[in-house]
Amino acid sequence: MTTAIDDVVGRETRHVLQTYRRQPITLVRGQGVRLWDSEGREYLDLLSGIGVAALGHAHAGLARAIADQAATLIHTSNLFYHPLQGQLAEQLAALSGLPRAFFCNSGAEAVEACLKFARRYWYTKKEPRAEFIALEESFHGRTFGALSVTSDEHYRTPFEPLLPTVTFVPVNDPAALAAAVSNRTAAIIAEPVQGEGGVRPLTPAFAAAISAACAKTGALFIADEVQSGLGRTGHPFYFQALGLKPHLVSVGKALGGGVPIGAALVSQDVADTLSFGDHGSTYGGNLLACRAALCVIHELVGGGLITQINRVGRHFEQTLKAVAAKHSFVKDVRGSGLMWGLELDRDAGPVVPAGLVQGVIVNRTADTVVRLLPPLVITEAEADEALGRLDAALGAVGAAA
Ligand SMILES: Cc1ncc(COP(=O)(O)O)c(C=O)c1O
Repeated sequence: MTTAIDDVVGRETRHVLQTYRRQPITLVRGQGVRLWDSEGREYLDLLSGIGVAALGHAHAGLARAIADQAATLIHTSNLFYHPLQGQLAEQLAALSGLPRAFFCNSGAEAVEACLKFARRYWYTKKEPRAEFIALEESFHGRTFGALSVTSDEHYRTPFEPLLPTVTFVPVNDPAALAAAVSNRTAAIIAEPVQGEGGVRPLTPAFAAAISAACAKTGALFIADEVQSGLGRTGHPFYFQALGLKPHLVSVGKALGGGVPIGAALVSQDVADTLSFGDHGSTYGGNLLACRAALCVIHELVGGGLITQINRVGRHFEQTLKAVAAKHSFVKDVRGSGLMWGLELDRDAGPVVPAGLVQGVIVNRTADTVVRLLPPLVITEAEADEALGRLDAALGAVGAAA
């Protein structure tokens, strides 16, 4: 395998569709919260592949489970039973309180399934409802349905017309939500913590407005927990911290620890309105993906990782706030557990390459926000080391301005 950066970039430029703006490093190896590039440089990972590598890199238990499953049986299709889908659905039901799961392969597919199930619910009730309410600054994925409830014009405009029946309301504006929801609303969809939108948790008052609007009109509530779910915020799901009772929940990212898998979690009410053939996926919930996800859930619950995230998350928050206080261009620090955003008074883009120079991987989102989604297994000592490097990167950006 040739990994010299020029070969990699040259080959990709010729043959890979140029839809991603990549950082100029080639990552070849990982261990825990550390990554190494093809030049042998080490980085502390405060991004975990956008919230995916929940157990860190090259986790021994996950690697063993994947290898064992690959040597046993990877895929059967959904035309047959296999032993792992039911086990995983049962674990997710215990964690979320939603009794049923539909398995797919990505976050966008999970959202897509939730939107379809919401339409199907109203169709079965013989009271078809077409409309969805979504939030400004939302991000739900790139497929047509998920894109239709994503607010960013930059992502939407080249692909219009999208679903015409979506109304966007400002985030954390209870009055605007109440005014928009009616008895034509099939569902309200929201991320309990907006991720791509700049790490913005919903406020308790807005969560209460969602519950009230659903109670008044019968509209379903879809919680998109693709980024915020599965322990990331220190709660199994952030909707629980907000006291919300979703009818549908989309999950993805961390679920397989890096093996692609997503799921729509479904209330019994909604599940009762679905029939054979309503939805499907060739790969969805195959043995390899379910085995990886069972390993992640086992670590989260049985292995005590959620408790650890709460402890390390509090330390992370304190340390991050102390770092932020040293740089006058950091305006706000938002988040929970191990999901954090630093809002700057300027473009956050230069922080990313400055981080690479210091040996830390972070991400820019919503133009002005530095987003931090470390592996869920990060320790206090690793957090100190990584945030020390981020401090140096912020210092370099401040000095260059
Ligand atoms: C909240 C949310 N929903 C959906 C998605 C789409 O997930 P995927 O990229 O796996 O399709 C994302 C991805 O960032 C997300 O953050």
